[in-house]
Amino acid sequence: MTERRVTFLSRGSRFSTEADASFLELARLVGLSLPSLCGGRGKCTKCRCQPRGPVTEPSALELEMLTDQELARGIRLGCQARPLGEVELDIQEEVLDKGGYVELAVEPEPLLRKVCLELPPAALHDDLSDVERIQKGLGTPIRVGLETLRWLPAALRQGAFRVTATLWDPGDGVTELLAVEAGDTQDRAYGIAFDIGTTSVVGYLIDLFSGKEIARSSRLNGQQPWGADVLSRASHALEHARGVTDLQTAIVGTLNQIIADCSASVDPRHVYYMTAVGNPIMHHLALGLTPTTIALSPYVPVTRDGLSLRAADLGIALPNAQAYFLPLIGAYVGADTLGVILATGLDASGEIRLAVDIGTNGEMALGSRDHILACSAPAGPAFEGAEIRQGMRASAGAIDRVRILEDVRVWTIGDVPPKGICGSGLIDALAQMVRRGVVDEGGRLLPRSDLEGKLPPKVLERVVGQDYTWEFVLSWDPYVTVTQDDVRQLQLAKGTILCGVRILMAELGIEATQIAQVCLAGAFGNFVDKRSALGIGMLPPAIPPDRILGVGNAAGQGSRMTLLSKSVRRRAETLARRVEYFELSKHPRFEEIFIDSMSFAR
Ligand code: FES
Repeated sequence: MTERRVTFLSRGSRFSTEADASFLELARLVGLSLPSLCGGRGKCTKCRCQPRGPVTEPSALELEMLTDQELARGIRLGCQARPLGEVELDIQEEVLDKGGYVELAVEPEPLLRKVCLELPPAALHDDLSDVERIQKGLGTPIRVGLETLRWLPAALRQGAFRVTATLWDPGDGVTELLAVEAGDTQDRAYGIAFDIGTTSVVGYLIDLFSGKEIARSSRLNGQQPWGADVLSRASHALEHARGVTDLQTAIVGTLNQIIADCSASVDPRHVYYMTAVGNPIMHHLALGLTPTTIALSPYVPVTRDGLSLRAADLGIALPNAQAYFLPLIGAYVGADTLGVILATGLDASGEIRLAVDIGTNGEMALGSRDHILACSAPAGPAFEGAEIRQGMRASAGAIDRVRILEDVRVWTIGDVPPKGICGSGLIDALAQMVRRGVVDEGGRLLPRSDLEGKLPPKVLERVVGQDYTWEFVLSWDPYVTVTQDDVRQLQLAKGTILCGVRILMAELGIEATQIAQVCLAGAFGNFVDKRSALGIGMLPPAIPPDRILGVGNAAGQGSRMTLLSKSVRRRAETLARRVEYFELSKHPRFEEIFIDSMSFAR
């Protein structure tokens, strides 16, 4: 199948992503906004855009809403048209999500500096080696890696001994020569911050001196063929001699694709620094370390330290770059959670705050500048629509909003007939079903006979099935239902998250009313209806909805902040040792709290 890939060009920056979705949805995925007044229903025409490249044929709505002249010029509705291959699109809107809605201002404080040198050319009477010549010009001793030595003679002579040296000061007292370029290139210094997720990987190309984002690209993690979750990938590493190599090659391939996407803007030789965050298994696999000690009892990582090395040593296509992998907090709480803490400023907060990053696992941190506790709650993939009978990713046709009044009303992404239901739609549906009594406190979908006289007739009709196999119909045509099994999956997921929050609260000795703010990180946090999340009891009921904030890709934002500032890098190192990792199952009341957290009682 042809790859569907879109690059948005906005205010001098490039944002690229891949997925089968409308341009409106794809823009949102990379944190941009196309104008929309009708929520993508093809009614307002505010999302008009002019994609360059292969796209779907105009829909009936576009034929109705756009003039023949507009269509002839290639103008399309962003909420209707979808890419069919490589497409570029200019977009003038503000960037919504610079890696997180809680963006904290970070002053660029680079670890490197560039110095332009006018050196005397080598001659018979001046026979210093190339390295000695540069050292003399700089007036300081330097360490030079083999790769730089290979480039050095050509750069010196190409520039007629007028060159720019890029110097790296990691703070251990020795300056490293990262690169030598012909001429004066002092105005060019870039870095890439990566967020390595189990499902997708995002890279942000940043100007290290100004802090400006130059390009952004996201790709699906190339390790997908070895399973959707971290444990399947760890099993492959455990069971096959070449397992770790397979997985490391795949993730490095994805990082290199992202670098290639960004290199339309910048020569990769001018990228001198990269940072990476990821969960512990992604972190280990990217470094080529075995993740099996994390997956097997007693569950310890090979290392929790922040690691500095040359990117090229990992096969990453950045010949002059230093790579820094942020430290891990524990065996199941990684550098991604550390990034969330940095980006949400939890470690500097005078008030107690909770940050929850929900993916296949729920990682959370609770605390303030005095003390932070973190844990991992294995919620499973139900919030992402996986293992749900008609679950699907948040793409066109997914039910994303549900209301039950005299009848059931559903909304879908793209306003097209429903094909299934995504995570935010499921949470909405379940919250409504609990509120109307279709699902009881214990999570049982009640038989129709128990609901007679308690529900409006059109809603009652939607309870279908018999004995233990009751279902609730969200849409008759196409037929989409929520089954008893779906309710159980979600119940387990929400119970796990709530259990984690309650145990962290108990360990910290606080009540839910003392939590000043809940930051929901990741796509989930941006799209879930906060009242519905409270309605299914995913968070303690004493937290009012106005204290819940969606914070976007906070893990990626933490990676960016570290890339830009050596103070943030030092803060990350200290923080990783200061955050206390708590293993939930070790809590003496774990089982009791877990079972109680499964309840839908308000
Ligand atoms: S027509 Fe309104 S968002 Fe596309």
